[in-house]
Amino acid sequence: MTATRGLEGVVASETSISSIIDDTLTYVGYSIDDLAENASFEEVIYLLWNLKLPTQAELDELKQQLAENMELPKEILESFKTYPIEKVHPMAALRTAVSALALYDEEADAMDKEANMRKAVRLQAKIPAIVAAFARVRKGLEPVAPRKDLGFAANFLYMLKGKEPDDIEVEAFNKALVLHADHELNASTFTARVCVATLSDVYSGVTAAIGALKGPLHGGANEQVMKMLTEIGSIDRVEDYLQEKFMNKEKIMGFGHRVYRKGDPRAKHLKKMSEKLTELTGQREYYDMSVKIEQIVTTEKGIPANVDFYSASVYHCLGIDHDLFTPIFAVSRVSGWLAHILEQYSNNRIIRPRAEYVGPGMQKYIPIENR
Ligand code: CMC
Repeated sequence: MTATRGLEGVVASETSISSIIDDTLTYVGYSIDDLAENASFEEVIYLLWNLKLPTQAELDELKQQLAENMELPKEILESFKTYPIEKVHPMAALRTAVSALALYDEEADAMDKEANMRKAVRLQAKIPAIVAAFARVRKGLEPVAPRKDLGFAANFLYMLKGKEPDDIEVEAFNKALVLHADHELNASTFTARVCVATLSDVYSGVTAAIGALKGPLHGGANEQVMKMLTEIGSIDRVEDYLQEKFMNKEKIMGFGHRVYRKGDPRAKHLKKMSEKLTELTGQREYYDMSVKIEQIVTTEKGIPANVDFYSASVYHCLGIDHDLFTPIFAVSRVSGWLAHILEQYSNNRIIRPRAEYVGPGMQKYIPIENR
């Protein structure tokens, strides 16, 4: 038995939800380019969960269900006040609050398909509400209740900022949600599938996935990209900053990918959006810096930008706190996690691979007084 480091190239599951073939990403056979230009995030949620695009009536019903389920149990809102709020990272708060949500859901452990679909709607609706409410409570602000007349993207921005977003903000945020929704067997989705393949519940699967997304090699990279842009500060410092990183053999956040070799197909949409938004908000230097970083990293290292690179400046221009970037990734990716959890249940076998043992050979137990 020989181990494959990081399971590179290992095909660990079948799926009908999304695919990456020759650097092209599709959801249920629809190209990500097509969806990013044309689809609402709610249509994508429906697509991932039902493997078909919704009719108008089906879409209206899902939108209504999401809007109706955004309200949080009061216990969850109260619990934020018990967190050491000044030091808690919002990703840790989200992980804890999602786990706690299960305590207030009478169907938490129900395993039938209909109950799991109802829980999927609740989680998809409540995760943005948790992120927005926590972001406000930690600033001493009251949470803002969701509005039933707003779509998903607009409702999140509204709950976060307490004012209705304008069209360009909604367009940008909707696009980011569509682009982040699913991504085959990425680390957090695999985590969710491993968890529920023991026939554990949906909340456990999503909580585990949030933990995996949090790491800087996965979803946590977008916050690190913004940290890098802030540290660099101006375009004339880009070259020196990168050369020092290269010299120290440090990774440049927002670059590289396990599967894509020529480039991440999601990045170009966010790059376009970043140019538009930085221009509109008078913060063009973030876009110019990003382009220069991309030029140097791709020319000198041959490593292309991934989805996290330009999403950082997009979220910054939307006025979102930098430590909320990864929770926002979860607001979108939970749609994919849930689709994969439902798919796993529908054709389940426990996921239990083997390990190549590289430790010492057989040893005899030594009594503690003789060690
Ligand atoms: N900066 C500098 N060098 C890099 C980078 C980078 N961002 N990414 C890969 N490399 C180098 C790496 O040092 C290694 O070089 P060598 O062969 O000389 O040791 C080579 O490229 C292969 O890299 P790897 O780390 O073995 O590749 P991997 O498939 O195990 O990891 C990755 C993929 C995405 C974790 C990695 O590229 C990385 O750490 N990127 C930075 C973090 C990041 O942006 N993560 C977001 C990923 S995309 C969306 C998401 O999941 O959130």
